[in-house]
Amino acid sequence: MNTSKTKDSYKIAVVPGDGIGKEVMKVTLEVLDALDIDFEYVYGDAGDECLEKNGTALPGETLDMIRDADACLFGAAGETAADVIVKIRQEMKMFANLRPVKSYPNTNSLFENIDFMIVRENTEGMYIADEEKYTDNGAVARRIITKEAEKRIIDYAFNYAKENGKSKVTAVHKANVLKKTDGLFKEIFYEVAESYPDIATEDFYVDATAMYLITQPESFEVIVTTNLFGDILSDEGAGLVGGLGLIPSANIGRDGALFEPVHGSAPDIAGKGIANPIAMMLSAVMMLRYLSENEAADRLDAAILKVLSDAEVLTGDLGGSATTQELADEVKKYL
Ligand code: NAI
Ligand code: MG
Repeated sequence: MNTSKTKDSYKIAVVPGDGIGKEVMKVTLEVLDALDIDFEYVYGDAGDECLEKNGTALPGETLDMIRDADACLFGAAGETAADVIVKIRQEMKMFANLRPVKSYPNTNSLFENIDFMIVRENTEGMYIADEEKYTDNGAVARRIITKEAEKRIIDYAFNYAKENGKSKVTAVHKANVLKKTDGLFKEIFYEVAESYPDIATEDFYVDATAMYLITQPESFEVIVTTNLFGDILSDEGAGLVGGLGLIPSANIGRDGALFEPVHGSAPDIAGKGIANPIAMMLSAVMMLRYLSENEAADRLDAAILKVLSDAEVLTGDLGGSATTQELADEVKKYL
């Protein structure tokens, strides 16, 4: 985390995108404005409508804007999502994908007391398109593990733990089978750990972890893992705490950071004003922590928790009948 970043004002690149992205973004900015922090918003276009209008789903100006800002809030793109969000991550070299897994009351969470962070390496591992090829009798993908990238993500995870009062980091790998690639990952994990003597460590195989997430999810605090395993475990995590309308994420690089709900543009409910804005608001909470505005992050998080606990003003996905705006107004009430 960027601890030295607290400033008097922040420039935030706001990219609402398509469908409910625009709706949840609008009310999230209202909620942020109630926090008395000086945000300057600059608005960028991206997504399906942008493609229609400008002939490109991700204009260069939007990328420049994100590069230039202290952080970016991203709503959702539609069919162009891969061209937009994946491209932004690549262009900005956002090497860390953060997915918090936290249970909130009156949601479809399978358990109470879950609160951990998955820190996923986002630039290498199995997901390098150029390394996947057809062969004479099939196809082959290569798995790339570099010392530099793995050290960077593992260090990020330990530092995150330190900055956020977590006491343990768990490395997830399959070093018994992938002896060289994951063997190296595990080795680097324990090397980096030496610089964080106050933080406990453990390492598990990915298959066992998939089970432990169900049998003892409350035992995890920070999980660090490679690209493919992180992708799979974070969706398992989302399933544990239930509901796309609640799940935020962050993409962090040296030159920029982008915060977005995990959900897409939801064309089935777009335009009706009934989308759950909490995933977007929790993405804003992550942004506040990234900016070291921890007090404001705690306030917003607590207000969201209060609204969920009261269960009086909830959107349809959570069994209520409130609109996006009504839920946001309720959150503002508790700030
Ligand atoms: P989706 O996340 O948009 O919707 C899946 C289901 O969950 C829908 O029934 C939707 O109504 C519901 N849902 C999602 N967010 C909600 C919220 N905040 N409140 C209440 N209900 C919510 O995923 P889907 O349907 O697979 O994709 C729709 C479009 O979104 C596609 O064009 C896809 O490419 C794009 N997409 C974009 C993403 C991004 O920008 N990061 C991520 C995922 C999908
Ligand atoms: Mg995924």
